Amino acid sequence: MKVLHVGAEIFPLVKTGGLADVLGALPQALIAAGADVRLLLPGLPAIVDAVLHQKVVCEIGPCFGAARGTLRLGQMPYSKVPIYIVDAPYRYRRPGSPYQASDGSEWADNVQRFALLGWVGAQLAAGELDPAWTPSLVHAHDWHAAMTCAYVAAHPPTAAATVFTVHNLAYQGLFPSGDFALLGLPSRFMASSGLEYHQQLSFMKAGLKFAQRVTTVSPTYAREIATHEFGFGLDGVIRGRGGDVSGVLNGVDGVVWNPATDASLAARYSPTQLQGKAKCKLALQAELGLKPGAEAPLFGLVSRLTSQKGLDLLLGALPGLLRRGGQLALQGSGDPALEAAFVAAAQAHPGAVAARIGYDEAFAHRLIAGADAILVPSRFEPCGLTQLYGLRYGTLPVVRRVGGLADTVVDASDEAVQADRATGFSFDAATPAALDTAIQRAIAAHAEPARWQGLMRRAMAQDFSWTGAAQKYMALYRQLTGTPAVAGRTG
Ligand code: ADP
Ligand code: GLC
Repeated sequence: MKVLHVGAEIFPLVKTGGLADVLGALPQALIAAGADVRLLLPGLPAIVDAVLHQKVVCEIGPCFGAARGTLRLGQMPYSKVPIYIVDAPYRYRRPGSPYQASDGSEWADNVQRFALLGWVGAQLAAGELDPAWTPSLVHAHDWHAAMTCAYVAAHPPTAAATVFTVHNLAYQGLFPSGDFALLGLPSRFMASSGLEYHQQLSFMKAGLKFAQRVTTVSPTYAREIATHEFGFGLDGVIRGRGGDVSGVLNGVDGVVWNPATDASLAARYSPTQLQGKAKCKLALQAELGLKPGAEAPLFGLVSRLTSQKGLDLLLGALPGLLRRGGQLALQGSGDPALEAAFVAAAQAHPGAVAARIGYDEAFAHRLIAGADAILVPSRFEPCGLTQLYGLRYGTLPVVRRVGGLADTVVDASDEAVQADRATGFSFDAATPAALDTAIQRAIAAHAEPARWQGLMRRAMAQDFSWTGAAQKYMALYRQLTGTPAVAGRTG
């Protein structure tokens, strides 16, 4: 089965969040499950510079205001996954974020940049760009790739099935309705049954309305987005899709995130050889100027600093954490006010709070390995990956019980501890007090080494590999394309 994934970022070349981790790992897992997978990515500088063995597939010609474009086919470094690149320098070859200029504003031509990506995806699906490879299914990720689904729907002879995955409903790709004229779609697409959203144009709706199936990245988030509280104005559209919407939990790339082999760490460790983790903690404390010692429970956080992530709750709960002898190590970037608040907290509490503002992949590994617990107090969380990395690294998650966090962390209630199922600490209310209670419980558990080590071993024994998710996507692909399962293959 030939499957084309369309998305805007990929680990390790271009990453603003978990979407990149997913697009780096899921295609490999699908290939291992027997699918013939290729990716389509925009020709951002880091992608054009790194993809190996590039060959020109065809000229795209002038479109979406780009003077000309070329479709190239190459291979991801290391994984060798085949990558199509939309090489349209005028639209994509610019420094910085895939979505924003350096001043934080959206690129002014995002409507053309991501319409172009979707249009090329649909043309590939129609077999019009690469006669040597026509996908039977196109899988588009987030609003950046969602227009693929609208262009496939506008091109009825296309046989390819379509799947759209919502990684985060908060980012919708909204543009002025006048931009519709740039898209080259029939006018019937600019209706409430199509891309129209409160007199604007919504790329997210293109995916939600026109994909044959909609998935999101955890079963709980799939239910949540059908509600007013989590639907970001699109809950009615989600409800309208009924049983076409489902959740498939993300996995962890076990090669990138493995404490037994992780070259970024001061020492390596495994569930049966945990001494290395203590060394990682001391090394992290030394690196950050935190007071050294095994006793102080060290809480870590690696995150985009946005309102989604519940960092205001953490600022509110910080005094309690510090009063009970805890330490905080934070790595993140984003909202300037949140950045400033954590920098100020670090200055006010030297030796107990450290805040590193910026993006650093290797340091994220050292932080997650060195901390005792990883905080994810999100207001909403489609899946969340850092709690999964925490589980794998024996760094117990302290999470709000929403979205994928609810699906992946088992709270250390007395009952769950007795049944040897507990893997972390959860709380419900989006309040500093509720987070404070969860932190208190974690600190109390940390004070009992045998209890804490039991939780760590249980956490590290969890299997969140991509294999299970790949099998679920394969089942969906087979259903949509009418492909029978191949005997002897698990996919
Ligand atoms: P989201 O996609 O909403 O940002 P996820 O938890 O799914 O949240 O994924 C975040 C990914 O980005 C993880 O791989 C995490 O380690 C990484 N990350 C976030 N902020 C930073 C940072 N400042 N430095 C390094 N890695 C980061
Ligand atoms: C989004 C979500 C996050 C999820 C990631 C990968 O960025 O915010 O929860 O883990 O996508 O699917």
